[in-house]
Formats: sequence, C-alpha cells, structure tokens
Amino acid sequence: MRARIIGTGSAVPESVVTNDDLAKVVDTNDEWISSRSGIRERRIAREDNTTSLAIKAAKQAMEDAHMDSEALQMIVVATCTPDMFFPNTACQVQQALGAHNAVAFDLSAACSGFLFALSTVQAYINSGLYTNALIIGAETMSKVIDWKDRSTCVLFGDGAGAVVVKAEETGFIDMVLGSDGDGGHVLTCRTREMHNLLCEGEQEMDYLHMDGQPVFKFAVKKVPECVEQLLEKTGTDREAVDYYILHQANSRIIQSVAKRLHVPEEKFPMNLSTHGNTSAASIPILLDEMNRKGMFARGQKILMSGFGAGLTWGAALIEW
Ligand code: UT7
Repeated sequence: MRARIIGTGSAVPESVVTNDDLAKVVDTNDEWISSRSGIRERRIAREDNTTSLAIKAAKQAMEDAHMDSEALQMIVVATCTPDMFFPNTACQVQQALGAHNAVAFDLSAACSGFLFALSTVQAYINSGLYTNALIIGAETMSKVIDWKDRSTCVLFGDGAGAVVVKAEETGFIDMVLGSDGDGGHVLTCRTREMHNLLCEGEQEMDYLHMDGQPVFKFAVKKVPECVEQLLEKTGTDREAVDYYILHQANSRIIQSVAKRLHVPEEKFPMNLSTHGNTSAASIPILLDEMNRKGMFARGQKILMSGFGAGLTWGAALIEW
C-alpha cells in the first residue's frame, strides 16, 4: 500500500522580519541578502515555539483530511529544533490533538527531515502495520541562530507544515535517500556541552555554524543527482513531473537545479522570499500553500527533494 496525502496544514509566527530590519542588527543590506539567497523577509517566533507551530499545522492538516483524532495511528515530527529533549514534540502534538491511539515520535535529519519522515511512514504503511499517519516538519531556527553572525542569521525562518497520509492504492511512488557523515562538519549546532559533576568550567551555549559555500556546492550537485536517480528508478520522464518542490534554502540553488535538470523554472515553486529557510518545515509549508491555492489535481506527479545538515539528502516522488 502507498501513503497518499489527504490533508495539509501549515503555521508560521505572526512577526515578519524584513531584510531592512536585519540591516539594523548586523552589517548587511537587502541587496546582498536578496541577490545571494532570494530571501526578502522571514517569520520569527515571539510567543510561538516549535511545539505550538507543529500543533497549529497539525490541526489544520487533520481538518483538511477530515480525520478524527481518535482514528490517527501515527505521528512523526521531523525537527532539529525541538523545545525539549523529552518528551518528544510528537507526544506533545498527540496530547494537543487528543490522538490517544497514535504512536508518536520525532525524527532528526535537519532540512531533509520531512522527506525522511515521509519515507519512514511509507515503510510502516507498506508493511501493513499502520494505515494512516500525521507527518510534521516543524522548526524554530531562530533560537539556534547566532544573531550576531550575518552569514547565517539572514537565511533562516520559523514555521511548521503538516500532512495527513492514508494507505491507498496510489500516492507515494518511490524515494531515494542518502547520508554522508564525513561532510557533517560544514553545518553544525551542538546541544549541550558535556557538563556534569566530573567536568570543570561553565557550560557554553552553542549556535548554528555553517560554511555556506561547501553546503551550496553539495546541494547543487546532490539534488540533481538524486532527482535523476529517482526518475530513472521509477521510469518517469522529467517532463511528466508537474511540480518539483525543493527544500527552500536559496533561490540560486533551486535555479541551478532546474538548469541542470533541463526543466523550466516555472515547475519549481518557491516561497523562500517570504519565509526564508525553515529547515524541515519548508517542503510541507510550500505543499500546504499550493494545496490551499488549488494548484494540485488528482493524479498529478510531484517530486520533492531536500538536503541539509548531516549531511543528508533525499527525493520522493508522489502522485497527488
Ligand atoms: O538548509 C541548509 C542549507 N543551507 C544552504 O543551503 C546554504 C548554502 N549556501 C548559500 O546559500 C550561500 O553560500 C550563502 C547565501 C550562505 C552565501 O553566499 P555566497 O555567495 O557563498 O557568499 P560568501 O559566503 O562567499 O560571502 C561573500 C561575501 C563575504 O565577504 P568577502 O569575504 O568577499 O569580503 C562575506 O563576508 O559576502 C559577505 N557576507 C555578507 N555581506 C553582507 C556574508 N554574509 C553577508 C551578509 N551581508 N549577510
């Protein structure tokens, strides 16, 4: 059986932070940020956090799917910015929804997290263990950003996206996933220093570190590679794909991927100009926005692809 998306939802914080706002905090300007990344503004949480955004997105997706909470069997949250070590975000979503019959766990693969979660759920559904699931990508990147580091603080935003999937004859077609721990040092963020009764000194807070250029090069090579692998594996012509929904990190990366695949840019929707890079949330937020605009029709083919810290990457082909 195949996981088919039957409902979507998303949530972003209310506060909009523009490039001009950031230029008051670090030595940057709108021209640099928008020409290098395509980002003009992002939503940054004040009252919200990863859990509250996940819950809002989840409620919308459940409503869109007309799914009763008690009927939900599984909740998987992809996040690299959980609010707590434990309980996991998914259990908190479960409580908020009153989804008492669902098993709930988090999964961490940074910006590729949503695709890793989708493929995990597909494996459960294909095995026959479960027949439906709620998959969420939720992040508050703003809390792990060093707001004094202009090379990273201009790139990220907060938000959550969710989909409800159900076992059907059509839906998920196939996927390609990959990981490369050797390259992991180019994008990191530590949790806590080892600090216990045997350790001396104060605990220091760590923030996100990124060596932008190697990440850029990795993305423009790996994404077309795994998309091509997936097209070949599934015997799909690139023209037969209606939309290529890529992780929203940088418009230059998306344009480069379109060019390398010889697919018109119009097939690569983007929302990063208003959201920035929301990590694991970027693909499901864009999916939800497109769904709400009525851009999808039954039977259309959608190819999603993500990349990020780990290093991790992946692509999934689905039929709407
Ligand atoms: O989802 C996670 C995946 N992450 C990504 O996809 C990020 C991938 N990388 C990128 O998107 C790009 O590498 C960036 C947008 C991060 C940077 O673009 P770039 O063209 O690679 O710029 P750069 O890092 O080579 O920096 C060029 C210059 C430097 O100055 P010098 O050394 O040439 O004098 C930087 O110090 O731009 C400077 N710079 C800035 N200037 C104004 C760096 N950040 C800023 C800034 N405003 N915010």
